[in-house]
Amino acid sequence: MVGTQWGDEGKGKIVDLLTGRADVVVRFQGGNNAGHTLKVSGEQVILHLIPSGILYPETLNIIANGVVVDPGVLLEEKEELRKRGYFPNDSQLIISERAHVIMPYHKIIDQCREEILGGAKIGTTGRGIGPAYEDKASRMGIRMGDLLREKNLRKKINAALDEKNFLIEHRFHRPPFDPDQVIEEYVEYGRKLKPHITDTSYVLFNRISAGSRILFEGAQGTLLDIDHGTYPYVTSSNVISGNVCCGSGVSPTSIEGIWGVMKAYSTRVGHGGFPTELNDSLGEEIRTRGAEFGATTGRPRRCGWLDMVVISYSIRLNGLTGIALTKMDVLTGISPLKICLGYELDGVVTDRVPADIGDLERVIPRYREVKGWDEPLEDCRSFDDLPKNAKDYVETIEHLTGVPVTLVSVGPSRDQSILRKSPF
Ligand code: GDP
Ligand code: IMO
Ligand code: MG
Repeated sequence: MVGTQWGDEGKGKIVDLLTGRADVVVRFQGGNNAGHTLKVSGEQVILHLIPSGILYPETLNIIANGVVVDPGVLLEEKEELRKRGYFPNDSQLIISERAHVIMPYHKIIDQCREEILGGAKIGTTGRGIGPAYEDKASRMGIRMGDLLREKNLRKKINAALDEKNFLIEHRFHRPPFDPDQVIEEYVEYGRKLKPHITDTSYVLFNRISAGSRILFEGAQGTLLDIDHGTYPYVTSSNVISGNVCCGSGVSPTSIEGIWGVMKAYSTRVGHGGFPTELNDSLGEEIRTRGAEFGATTGRPRRCGWLDMVVISYSIRLNGLTGIALTKMDVLTGISPLKICLGYELDGVVTDRVPADIGDLERVIPRYREVKGWDEPLEDCRSFDDLPKNAKDYVETIEHLTGVPVTLVSVGPSRDQSILRKSPF
């Protein structure tokens, strides 16, 4: 299950719903930059790091090697879930010993870089995601398994701080970190998280061999992918379906289906090109009705029309076999609706996303208008319950993409869903 746009498509809701049919749920990339919202029996749960399968006591949740883990945030999230009566058993969650750890210096570096960039900033979540992935690539990262070996951890943190403290003091003019304090804090995290840390790829291999139904939960969205997204306004991991394999240590031949979660319109939080953005009262109205405020940072999300150039690109990159279409209810009462079918760039119409961010910022979207509907959709539970124009909207998407809309979501709650075809 991957995001097809700029994140916040409703992946958490869909993963929670489908967990009812799965045995294992796996996060394979990203970190607590994600904010996945689940709503069950009127109660809302927002998850940043723990997979969205955690509300089901029978399901195994895995934080795999491709995730960057902030152990403090993980422990808080676990505590919060416990308080609310979820996650009763430690055995419900395992974390890869190979997953990289977000360290306090990663967060400071992330935030200071943004400050220096000023108006040109990426608009990151400030959670240290980019700097943690940088250290992984430069082979100076700390991994979850290191938290269990104090002597080793001490050496690694000292080596990392040798370099990071120089940067923090002399480039960012902030106080340096005391290595002993950081070591003490992270040894304690290791002690607390020890029951969860293991070889998750091995566990997954055995579960696959035993015929378990496994759901991989993407974070962010395709246009935020480090390689294929709107660089540099992207996150620091590969978010597309191909990274399920690298990020969790399963082979490509074991993947049987790939669904994309797609909002019925577009949103983006953070900076960067957004061709169909609505900078007017309609954009404001969609934001209010769709409650489009970041689940992680609370920032207002930028809103705009559905963009099929983006969606086609996502379908191609991810190899989608199904689309979970969310937030259809938010569009009630807006007519006509617009769907972007192409971009005009210097007088030439293209159906491709330009690689250059400057070009993306200059394109003029070419729209098709379709009729909206006035009926509320919140209580629809089958495709036939939808009003004609809402059905037509779904069928237009299927026609334009050639991919079946396997699920239609008409509200934030688990039960406000029309499942047309099960992935399992
Ligand atoms: P994620 O990051 O992809 O999991 O999405 P977020 O949780 O960040 O944002 C999606 C928001 O839309 C959350 O507040 C969800 O509760 C809400 N949501 C999900 N599906 C629907 C839907 O079909 N209709 C409405 N109105 N809200 C939805
Ligand atoms: P979910 O999983 C929406 C955005 C940030 C910023 C850029 C880089 O909830 O869909 P980062 O902190 O990752 O270095 O920020 O990516 N971003 C998201 N936007 N949903 C997310 O996750 C996001 N995770 C990161 O706003 O523009
Ligand atoms: Mg989100």
